[in-house]
Formats: sequence, structure tokens, C-alpha cells
Amino acid sequence: MLRSWYETIFDERYPDLFGPLEQDPEEEVSQIAGLLSLPPGASLMDLGCGRGRHAIPLSRRGYRVTGVDLSEKMLGLARERASREGAYVDWVREDMRTFVRPGAFDACLSLFTSFGYFGDEDNQGVLVNVARSLKENGVFLLDLRNARKGLSGENVERAITVPSGSLSLRVRFDRATRRVRAEHTLSRSDGIRISSAFDVRIYSEEELTGMLCHAGMRVTAVHGSLDGAPFSSGAERMVVIARR
Ligand SMILES: C[S@@+](CC[C@H](N)C(=O)[O-])C[C@H]1O[C@@H](n2cnc3c(N)ncnc32)[C@H](O)[C@@H]1O
Repeated sequence: MLRSWYETIFDERYPDLFGPLEQDPEEEVSQIAGLLSLPPGASLMDLGCGRGRHAIPLSRRGYRVTGVDLSEKMLGLARERASREGAYVDWVREDMRTFVRPGAFDACLSLFTSFGYFGDEDNQGVLVNVARSLKENGVFLLDLRNARKGLSGENVERAITVPSGSLSLRVRFDRATRRVRAEHTLSRSDGIRISSAFDVRIYSEEELTGMLCHAGMRVTAVHGSLDGAPFSSGAERMVVIARR
């Protein structure tokens, strides 16, 4: 059977293809702890934790962290690093469409556009699972690309120089499906080219507010960055905070 894009692209190519777009995770973790006023020792779930960029520093800060991801390759990188650094994270290989731990977490994090990969019904299902996994008054942080940019029809085509060569990004928004297709191609200095493409449903703040409410959460803030900057049309990110 043909596998979906999100089952194939998150592998050893990922750090080269997406790494150059990542911000400093240590700084992001400090910002997240501040934004959410996390109490010491809080239990956290990082949904779509990838190679543990945030889960590992969060665990080092004394939080009890569960990292959930579908990709065995990404989890393999995460486990390796955690054991190298002596950090403990409960790594779980599971699909976010099915992962639920009723009432287990003080906070759930979905970072660096790890939401919107499926059709509307399944995306809503993920939010329902998150709400069920949160304790009463638990908090959910959803960090996405700024939807207003996608929804305004902005297409991006740019190349950036990275240590291994040149990375070109091509982002196209389809008005009919309200999905963005992004292609990343790395042309390495040694002549090798690697590429991958992902396809994400872009939700406006209003749509997300409705979906979160339907899942049993209420939006308490929307920021333009993890540093808590106000949200605006020009913001790079859309960081939605909701409570159960
Ligand atoms: C864009 S990456 C972000 C990773 C991480 N949050 C970070 O900031 O580095 C999205 C992650 O979601 C994971 N993922 C994709 N589909 C998934 C699914 N159905 N269930 C759980 N995780 C999934 C991928 O394997 C990947 O690690």
C-alpha cells in the first residue's frame, strides 16, 4: 500500500533538509517554560517530538517528559542523544491519531509545525486526543507557521546557503484544499541532491479556536513567536495556547 508523506520523509535526511530552519531549542525551551508558567516537575508530552530537540532539554530541566513520534528513525536519533547526555524521556512510538493517556499531562506541546498533516476529521481527532490526555486545566501549546501568510496566498521560493551546500525552499498554497505543499531540496557541495515534500492543512486562528473548543479546550492566547511577541499578519509563527 502507498505510504503517506508523513510516514516517509521524517528520516535521516530531516536534519539536513529542515535543520537550517530551526531556532535554538535551548532558548525555545526557556521561552516555552516562561509562556506556560510550568511548575517544577510538571508532566509534559511533546507530540511529534522528532529527534528530541525540545524533549531532551526539557527533561534536563527537571520536567517529566513523554516524547511521542511515529518515526522510528527520528526516535532512534532521540534515544541515542538522550543516552549520550544521560537525559530520561519516555519515548513512545505511536501515531498521534491514536495516542491518548487520559488525564496524564500538565502540558502538551506540538512544536515546529507538527500538526495539520491529515484530513480535517483526523486533525480534529488529534486535538480530542490531546484534550483527553491533559489534566483538568492542563495547557496545550501549538506552534505553527503563520496561517495568515499561507491563507493570503503567499508563495515562497528562496534558496539559503547551508554548511553542506544550498537549500532551496518552494512553498505553494492551494486555495481549494487550503493546504500548503512545501518542497525542500538540498544541493550538496559534493554533487548529491536530496529532497522531500510535505503537505499541511493551514488553519486560521478562527478555525483553530473552533476546533480546540470542539475538543474541549479554550484558547487563552495567540502569539507570533515562542518569545510571546504579539501575533500579527507578518509574524513568522502562530503560537496558540489553549487550556482544557
Ligand atoms: C516537523 S517535525 C517536528 C519535530 C519536532 N517537534 C521538532 O521541533 O524538531 C514533525 C514530527 O512529527 C512526526 N509525525 C509525523 N506524523 C506523525 C503521526 N502521525 N504521529 C506522530 N508523529 C508524527 C514526524 O515523524 C516528525 O518527527
